[in-house]
Amino acid sequence: MFYDSEARLSGDSPGLPFNPFKALVAPRPIGWITTIAPDRTVNLAPYSYFQAVADNPDIVMFSATPNLKVEDGQVGFTEARKHSEQNAIASGEFVCNIVSHDLGEEMNLTSAHLPADVSEVGHAGLEMLPSERVEPPRVARAPAALECVVVDTHVVQRRGGDHIYRMVFGEVVGIHIQDRYITDGLVQTSAMKILTRMGYDEYAVLEESFNMSRPDFDPILDGMLKS
Ligand SMILES: Cc1cc2nc3c(=O)[nH]c(=O)nc-3n(C[C@H](O)[C@H](O)[C@H](O)COP(=O)(O)O)c2cc1C
Repeated sequence: MFYDSEARLSGDSPGLPFNPFKALVAPRPIGWITTIAPDRTVNLAPYSYFQAVADNPDIVMFSATPNLKVEDGQVGFTEARKHSEQNAIASGEFVCNIVSHDLGEEMNLTSAHLPADVSEVGHAGLEMLPSERVEPPRVARAPAALECVVVDTHVVQRRGGDHIYRMVFGEVVGIHIQDRYITDGLVQTSAMKILTRMGYDEYAVLEESFNMSRPDFDPILDGMLKS
């Protein structure tokens, strides 16, 4: 079948009841972003428009819409930006917690649209631990967390102008990893059972892995020099 993405935008029938885009660009990692508001409230929210975009130094980004509102049963956007984006840009820092399968419910609870002065941390009953180099704390039970300093922001473009999404880029200045996931100096990613996002309400757990070496002599192999 051909899904007509342009027809969807112009209000015509595209061919499927729901946009398949997010079900296909899947799985997406979830950046579970901690920030600190100007009144010191600790904000925590999940972002699946989240990715690693460079390494050495390592750079990640998350991408946010404006805040949502529900009016007459219809979901729309307010003028205000989401708290994670606002706080990260204002304070210059965020922490990206890695979400494991067992933290799924808590992660989902932190996506609730709470007022800026109410912390999602208490709402989800989570314990936090201090970070080393940035102020926002990290989720104690998270298998890993990236401490980030904001280095850039960029309004996503669409044909004809600005999209509603803004990306926030952070340079990773430190990484916490629970010791039990490190064997012989290597991170056991699949043992973390990382929760990932697909389309609709669907999630997947990253549990299986296999190894495959590169065919050439690419000198950079995940930070190690290939011998
Ligand atoms: C798994 C998951 C992924 C999400 N990904 C995004 C995203 O990439 N961008 C976005 O704007 N909102 C995303 N959301 C919704 C936000 O988490 C939600 O709007 C939240 O209330 C934002 O909180 P904040 O205003 O405290 O940042 C996601 C929600 C869930 C459950």
